[in-house]
Amino acid sequence: MGLEELTFGKQIIAVVCNQFGDTGKGKISDYFATYWADVCSRGTGGNNAGHTTVVNGVKRVFHLLPCGIVHDSRGVINVLGNGMVINLEVLNHELDQLDSGNMTYNNLMVSEDAHVILPFHIDIDKALNQSQLNGGIGATGRGIGPCYEDKIGRRGIMIRDLFDRDKLFRKLIKSMNHHEYENIPVDDMISYLMPLADRIRPFIRNTINEMHDLVRQGKKISIEGAQGNNLSIEFGTYPYVTGSDCSVNGTAAGVGLSARAIDLCLGVVKYPFMTRVGGGPFPTEIGGKRAEEYCQDESHVLERELIDNQIPFEKLNGKIKYDYNNKKILEMMGSNDELTQNIGLRLRANEYGATTGRPRRVGWVDAVSARFAVGINGPDMVLTKVDCLESASGFKICYDYDGTNVFSRDPDHLRKVTPGYRDYGCYDKIGEVNDFNDLPTSLRTSIDDFERFTHGHVRVVSYGAERDATLVR
Ligand code: IMP
Repeated sequence: MGLEELTFGKQIIAVVCNQFGDTGKGKISDYFATYWADVCSRGTGGNNAGHTTVVNGVKRVFHLLPCGIVHDSRGVINVLGNGMVINLEVLNHELDQLDSGNMTYNNLMVSEDAHVILPFHIDIDKALNQSQLNGGIGATGRGIGPCYEDKIGRRGIMIRDLFDRDKLFRKLIKSMNHHEYENIPVDDMISYLMPLADRIRPFIRNTINEMHDLVRQGKKISIEGAQGNNLSIEFGTYPYVTGSDCSVNGTAAGVGLSARAIDLCLGVVKYPFMTRVGGGPFPTEIGGKRAEEYCQDESHVLERELIDNQIPFEKLNGKIKYDYNNKKILEMMGSNDELTQNIGLRLRANEYGATTGRPRRVGWVDAVSARFAVGINGPDMVLTKVDCLESASGFKICYDYDGTNVFSRDPDHLRKVTPGYRDYGCYDKIGEVNDFNDLPTSLRTSIDDFERFTHGHVRVVSYGAERDATLVR
């Protein structure tokens, strides 16, 4: 794949996202987990994220465990860090999946400092935030926000609190009283939590100290980010953000390290289109307000979009298969109607939530927000999914908002700006390329412009799901 050139002389590598998540961090993290890392770690979020691994032809989706878990038998250490929020039932389920595949997890470490997502966090999240209608931010409904709220409110339950019944009782009462939650009696909550906690007990560690030791021992460490910079509580479009800092800073802190310890931070950017799930401003959304409202209607799932647009598909074990290069889809991408163009691009790139199945909102790459992300996560970038625009009639990149290059996190401001675009010509199938100069001219020109504007450096271009479809500069 060529990524080994990037790892030369490096000890700690982080993969984060410079947009709104779902940029394909998994493909890059998976490479490091498979070929390079002694330790794979995650420090932010919880089961709002998700990545798929395929081992011996069997597909498994993990929402909590890092990519390296499938390499445990080779001694790869996997760490769920102190900055994470953990749903014990989901973690137990992921361990069940490993058991059923006869896969080991002897080197798993779960931070005693991570916070626990409780059933009422999920109820509260669903009631308040899951729907983008009625003022919700369109959260994933996994209890992430309310759990982080309890953490900041100093009433959270940490993994280490799970093994002392009295302490757990007192802490649960405090949190439940705060939320005025009465649906489940405390004793029942404890009876639910304790067996789930017992299962993970052998893996609980002071992972902050463990990470420091691993660094001192010279182990090669991969840190897997979750969500994206624009969704960070610290740098994203607040309040339309997740509960953690998804920048390199939060990602490093979440595994007990300083961002300064990271030798290479790769900020992943989907290119030349981008996506957002949930509510919030999205200046470059194709079709603008009309498209936003269309995606708020969560009935617009993949199957519905295929049926509505008369695109043939098959359903196998609940999974939908269709031809991404279907003529109708390509026609829709070239439509003069922006909403049709938006749906066409979503179908072409198969942009539906991995965790929720929701239609992802689609727009052109926003170099103004990417420049802001580069300021935080550093210059090195990975561009992904560039093959999705093959055979389209052309593409655009946004280089300013009303003539300025300033990104503001203020959603009211972002909703009002008019993006200034530069247009680029179409490109055909990329095929196999070994050198940046072999990429189609319009794509290459746009990447040069994008680098100049963002002050970033594109180190990797991924042009397909396969491991080989990756170009390293
Ligand atoms: P939460 O993380 O469930 O609280 O959701 C907060 C916001 O982040 C919502 O707009 C979600 O759609 C978005 N979000 C959370 N996780 C992901 C992800 O993995 N990919 C993309 N968006 C996400």
